[in-house]
Amino acid sequence: MTRVAVFISGGGSNMVSLLEDMARPGHAGRPCVVLSNTASAGGLAKAQAMGVTTAVVDHRPFGGDRAAFEAALDAALAPFEPDLICLAGFMRKLTAGFTDPRAGRMINIHPSLLPKYKGLHTHARALDAGDGVHGCTVHEVTAALDDGPILGQAQVPVLPGDTPDTLAARVLVQEHRLYPAVLRRFAAGDRTPLFLES
Ligand code: GAR
Repeated sequence: MTRVAVFISGGGSNMVSLLEDMARPGHAGRPCVVLSNTASAGGLAKAQAMGVTTAVVDHRPFGGDRAAFEAALDAALAPFEPDLICLAGFMRKLTAGFTDPRAGRMINIHPSLLPKYKGLHTHARALDAGDGVHGCTVHEVTAALDDGPILGQAQVPVLPGDTPDTLAARVLVQEHRLYPAVLRRFAAGDRTPLFLES
């Protein structure tokens, strides 16, 4: 059994897709906690409704002191003894002090075909570049933002008339396919990259 912590900052739709899949047969992972850096994250109530314990570590009292914030994250996580952490729309950068001890045990979903468009506003940047194909990536987390070994990607077409919002919605559908599929394999020890067609 692999104990999985999920970190969120917002609505948590990717988190829900992970929790739903962990409840299905044959999954090596089990959720141990859903943690948010903000108490207003809509995903917290969804996790509770699915019977998963939640925790909040608000980053704001720490100001720019990332080490102190990460020490508080460590302390909040410790009782749940996670084997893996899944970042699912978690919008705080994590430093090497948090990521290095968890190398190979923390994964993230990012809404672009990495290595393209690390950081924010990925859909607008794909449109501005005139890309015909866009998508999402699940990767292992390292101290470098949106970097680390790629575990899976799913592509979507960019269609005439797309806006950042329409493109984001098309990508999100694929996020909800890709992330559970990658976690299921990863929790079972399979790190072979998974490439999904839309
Ligand atoms: C998702 O599109 C995820 O890929 C993105 O935030 C959204 C969260 O949605 N993550 C990032 O941009 C990470 N830098 P959700 O809360 O509904 O899962």
